[in-house]
Amino acid sequence: MDCKHFGICGSCGLYMLSYAEQLKQKEEKVSALLTPFWQGKLEVFDSPDAHYRARAEFRIWHEDERCDYAMGNIEKKGAVTIKECPKVIESIEERMWKLLEKINASQDVLKQRLFSVEFLATTTDECLVTLLYHRKLDNTWSQEAKLLETELNCKIMGRSRKQKVILSDEFVTEKLDIDGKTFTYLQYESGFTQPNPAVNVKMIEWAVVQAKKVGHGDFLESYCGLGNFTLPLSHYFDKVLATEISKRSIHAALQNCKLNDINNITFARLASEEMTEALNGVREFSRLKDIDLKSYDFSTVLVDPPRAGLDEGTIALISNIDHIIYISCNPETLARDLETLTKTHVVLEAAVYDQFPHTEHVESGVFLQKR
Ligand SMILES: C[S@@+](CC[C@H](N)C(=O)[O-])C[C@H]1O[C@@H](n2cnc3c(N)ncnc32)[C@H](O)[C@@H]1O
Repeated sequence: MDCKHFGICGSCGLYMLSYAEQLKQKEEKVSALLTPFWQGKLEVFDSPDAHYRARAEFRIWHEDERCDYAMGNIEKKGAVTIKECPKVIESIEERMWKLLEKINASQDVLKQRLFSVEFLATTTDECLVTLLYHRKLDNTWSQEAKLLETELNCKIMGRSRKQKVILSDEFVTEKLDIDGKTFTYLQYESGFTQPNPAVNVKMIEWAVVQAKKVGHGDFLESYCGLGNFTLPLSHYFDKVLATEISKRSIHAALQNCKLNDINNITFARLASEEMTEALNGVREFSRLKDIDLKSYDFSTVLVDPPRAGLDEGTIALISNIDHIIYISCNPETLARDLETLTKTHVVLEAAVYDQFPHTEHVESGVFLQKR
């Protein structure tokens, strides 16, 4: 990928290396962190070099009468106006420049006190655009934004302080081909979604390969989000219990389960720390009153925590389960958690998935089995 803003825009910090060199660097970094626990060959899953991001957020820069997209400067000093962004997927690329021209042509209705634009798009050419304002949105705004929906063939939402205006939907519908099947996922504007759909598919398929090796018993998942891993992995287990802290994501997960006609998953809104308390029997939750926790016999657990990694209670809980799939967006906290987990388990497989090309961020995963 080449971009005229490389070296100035803070969004892509690894612009000076070729894509192959970046990937090598990430592989070496994860390999070095995992060496104390595992000396095998990392599997490496690359990304398309351009048009890979299905989520993007731009600030709006106002100068004279005009608006432009802007990003933070690479040296964290102010903003750079953006004239191209080749990392966004085609369904964003096709709309974002037309949108900007429409906003600029709209006098004040769409433009006044607009401070940010967020795009959430799919590989099936759906796109949800959220316009964020420092002013209250009225009917005139809704009417003009509704016209924009038709002109750009997208969904539009408006947000300002304590106000959310949904003109059609607040989600997009993604369809991903995973392990020979097509899965449908509703992805909500305010819920977590994996940013790179091509790499997401490779990551889920890697987890499916590990699940197939177990192929029996019940499956526990924490940090399940909208059911990204849960739905495809559910085929390889008897019963599934999947938990997540976000109400919005659990709502999406329940809908996704129905849409895909899957009947063996129970989703519960629980922080990982609460899930541990519930499964250890130290605290009762009214949210779990219809779930017989004692009926589960977990052979496998999947965790996919935020950058901070796992808390001590969750580590202790999953140390009792025979197989662990640990997906991580921070190899440093993964390595920290493996110090404890490898007292009870051995690492059988490890992989790097390049969710975030042209940045230092790296996603990795390990598959562990009880000693
Ligand atoms: C890296 S995302 C992974 C989501 C999902 N596995 C996916 O692939 O889309 C982490 C998820 O953990 C959730 N989360 C954050 N803190 C949590 C906590 N303490 N307990 C449970 N879930 C949490 C977030 O809402 C988010 O959905």
